[in-house]
Amino acid sequence: MSSVRRVMVRTYGCQMNVHDSEKITNLLQHHGYQPTDELEDADLLIINTCSIREKAENQLYSDVGRLRAWKQQRPGRLLAVAGCVAQQAGDAVLKRFGHVDFVFGTHNLRLVPSMAAAALQGERQTRIDETGSLDRFDLPERHPEFETLTPGRAFVTVMEGCDMFCSFCIVPTTRGREISRPASDIISEVEALAARGVREVTLLGQTVNAYGRHDLRRKEARKARGAVRDEAETVAFAELLGRIDAIPGIERIRYKSPHPIFFDEALIRAHGELRSLCPHVHLPLQSGSDTVLKRMRRRYGQAEFLALVEALRAARPDIAISTDLIVGFPGETDADFRDTLSVMRRAAFVDSYAFKYSPRPGTAAADFADIVPGEVAQARLEQLQNLQRELTLTAHRARVGETTQVLVEGASRRGGRQLSGRDPYQRVVNFEVSDAALAAPGSLQSVKLLEATPHSLIGLLAVEAPDHGPGRELRRSVKTVGGSADELIRIGGVPN
Ligand code: 5AD
Ligand code: SF4
Repeated sequence: MSSVRRVMVRTYGCQMNVHDSEKITNLLQHHGYQPTDELEDADLLIINTCSIREKAENQLYSDVGRLRAWKQQRPGRLLAVAGCVAQQAGDAVLKRFGHVDFVFGTHNLRLVPSMAAAALQGERQTRIDETGSLDRFDLPERHPEFETLTPGRAFVTVMEGCDMFCSFCIVPTTRGREISRPASDIISEVEALAARGVREVTLLGQTVNAYGRHDLRRKEARKARGAVRDEAETVAFAELLGRIDAIPGIERIRYKSPHPIFFDEALIRAHGELRSLCPHVHLPLQSGSDTVLKRMRRRYGQAEFLALVEALRAARPDIAISTDLIVGFPGETDADFRDTLSVMRRAAFVDSYAFKYSPRPGTAAADFADIVPGEVAQARLEQLQNLQRELTLTAHRARVGETTQVLVEGASRRGGRQLSGRDPYQRVVNFEVSDAALAAPGSLQSVKLLEATPHSLIGLLAVEAPDHGPGRELRRSVKTVGGSADELIRIGGVPN
């Protein structure tokens, strides 16, 4: 065994999980570990799990089963399970799999170094305690050798948890109650990232635009009682965006995922006013039917959702709106489903992530009757995806001829000399470049759009003016084995 211990984090699920994996890796780097994306090199493998749908959860169990041989190959190897499945299943994972060394939940990332050290002494433990305190955000800054796999871009957690309890969703159980970070901590983190060449930040939270709401309410109550203490350092979400917009070097702000009911006037206005706030919102609709929305406990109806879309378009006419949709929710009729298709058209979603309903034990909807047969849900999913392809293609075609700014991510999946990146509307843009050195990952390039496909836009570098980006080339790779923005499944490495 070499003296340096190597860690690999395998990540399933949403961007919050991707970011948690970054935090885990960074923390372990501060404790002497080096990251690797080669399973063969790893001394510690952490599986960061997702339980949003049954499929994601089952994936964990087959993964862990297969790792028995890996573990036995070399003495001193450790296997850990983290994330949402760990939070829910806890000790059961240790009981079921004798070769798993430790298990930690979504509130306990900070304990990883000590748990790994204890595991080397043969101690198997589970830590899934929920903490209502801000301690869990107390994590070190990026290690000097923290190597980003997303040059120029970074995630920043602003809040965690969810108090909404939509009837289909397991997140309030796996992520616990809403808690927001003080604005000053968020600002310091973004400033430090900007100083390292980060130009785009994505603010993360399960209901990101609910940021600060509980603190602000408590603050109001204290004021009303005449109490002077002002401990809540959170601000309204729109104000947070304004403060980040003022940070030199930050050229793009995104946020994910908002809940439609937490858009206030200030947030809508911000989309028309803030220089760096991207003209894109991911706005989960889930269903277009009022009856289904009610049973989902979404707290808005079709009319409110469409009014919000209209208000956002009034503030920022070119705004691109994407969404999440669920088909086959218990009791969903053909007419309900047609309502979803109708809202999709009226909202003109540029993109959508659509899922077949998957009952999650412990959620309210798990007990609902009127199960929609699998083949009906499948047919609806396909119909919905066909419509989305049309809507996306229409949106893409309307942009041909335009010159857009692309934040370069790396080589295009299409191969050749093509590079790939995202424009402000979060669309994938692939473009030819005579010399890849002209457009390093993390640099911003002007690209003229020449062709539209249902998945991406294709263009040409408009000005071959070098922008070398924030520096280092990618040395490690991100292997994406499937998914979408919300179902981003990466295998290997530190996903950043
Ligand atoms: N079944 C199917 N899709 C779900 N989502 C959340 N819970 C479920 C479930 N039980 C989807 C929602 C959410 C996205 C992240 O995952 O559309 O917005
Ligand atoms: Fe789940 Fe989002 Fe609803 Fe919270 S608001 S319960 S995370 S779908």
